[in-house]
Amino acid sequence: MQGLRPEILAGIPDDMYSIVRRIEDSFAISTPDLRKLANHFERQLERGLTMDGSDIPMNLSWVMGYPTGKEKGRYLSVDFGGTNVRVCNTLLQGREEDFQMTQEKYKLPVHLRSTSAEKLWDFVACCVGEFIEKHHDECEGQRNQTGRMPLAFTFSYPVTQTSITDGILQKWTKALSVSGVEGNDVVSQFQAALDKRKVPVQIVALVNDTMGALISSNYRDPEVKISSVISTGCNAAYMEDYRSITKIESHFGPDQEASDRLMGINTELGAYDNSRNMLPLTHFDETVDRLSAHPGTQMYEKMVAGLYLGEIYRMILIELHGLGMISPGKDLPILERPDVIDASFLSVAEADMSRSLDEIKDLFKEKLQMDLTPDEVKVCRYLVELVGTRAARLYACSIAAICRRMKVTTCRVGADGSVFHKYTHFKERSLHALREILDWPYFSEDFVTFHNAEDGSGVGAAIIAAMALEKQGGGTLSPKAGF
Ligand code: GLC
Repeated sequence: MQGLRPEILAGIPDDMYSIVRRIEDSFAISTPDLRKLANHFERQLERGLTMDGSDIPMNLSWVMGYPTGKEKGRYLSVDFGGTNVRVCNTLLQGREEDFQMTQEKYKLPVHLRSTSAEKLWDFVACCVGEFIEKHHDECEGQRNQTGRMPLAFTFSYPVTQTSITDGILQKWTKALSVSGVEGNDVVSQFQAALDKRKVPVQIVALVNDTMGALISSNYRDPEVKISSVISTGCNAAYMEDYRSITKIESHFGPDQEASDRLMGINTELGAYDNSRNMLPLTHFDETVDRLSAHPGTQMYEKMVAGLYLGEIYRMILIELHGLGMISPGKDLPILERPDVIDASFLSVAEADMSRSLDEIKDLFKEKLQMDLTPDEVKVCRYLVELVGTRAARLYACSIAAICRRMKVTTCRVGADGSVFHKYTHFKERSLHALREILDWPYFSEDFVTFHNAEDGSGVGAAIIAAMALEKQGGGTLSPKAGF
């Protein structure tokens, strides 16, 4: 598999070697396999545009087209992704000028990940209230005719939207499982909590983090036509030709006015192949899925995103220990602890390119209280590469599929998320896999390039709020219309 360094394994005993090779075989994805996965991905994207209930939901965002670059003004936004609540006040000054932002982060207490809807929204409303109080002078001027400040709400979960100002949560993903939210409109629930606390704010746009990243990146650089977020979860967004989204008509009837326009699609591609026809799932993946907050869902995401990579690796270590290949005869209760290994552990391990592998040895000692022998260190180092390489290669399938869907051979992708930015070798490995899938000539430059997305959940949300208010022109948004 591209990107692997099997030479690390030189000198390890044969029994260890054959176990590593067996694991490697189950993690390897050849070029033909990558292509098959990408082809199926493309078909699934199309299917999601034509019908409800497809693995990849292809959610409508009601963001109708790219920003002009002239959007200006100050906007509040809330970014809710599951770990923190970030409240921002952003001053947009048009494409040519830098934006200015004031922001505060509030940690979402772990117990609120599985609380009730009321408690969750009260917490988020409280964060907004605190922010406005603290930055009172800056916020005051933003009130509209009704005395409220417009706010864009970035909610990074799959929702069904009939307009820019509503969204029914389809299902929780990642680590959240708050009761009473699935099947309900998150905008009305959050707005009710804000009203109850008398926080003078009106939600004017509901935004997914990928849609925010698409709009903010395109605002800065109009050549960016796809956005991708790979952090705790994995997802992507792009603009689709309105006429190709045939499922709209079955819901809303024909809409002549919008038919030659573009509609932002939040693909929710983390759900690719939930029906398990294509993904090369290993028994490690099956266990990670079973132990996850939402078994049976987001199967693709669980092979590529940050929340799960450490867990996959933990399952491998548990198996190796069970086979007596690492720390034989020693109890390792720490390996039974969910999430004891996170994606940053793997990234740090991968960054150790030394011969001695001292850093990875120290890492295992410090985080897992494991004293590895020199052979064990080599094995553990190599297995980290397997997990990271497979993730990057699978990730590339989604980008290749969207490029094909958009019928573009060259494209700039606005990429965001800790895995993308911080995970050692992730970007290079993805690009290499893209080259294999899309069959770029050997010596050619990269036809698809990744660019750091502008802050989508903050700046992107602010731009979307500006676009919404501009269209609204002081009135109210029509129920079906985007803007
Ligand atoms: C999960 C969410 C999706 C989000 C992604 C990245 O896949 O379902 O909405 O965009 O994580 O945060």
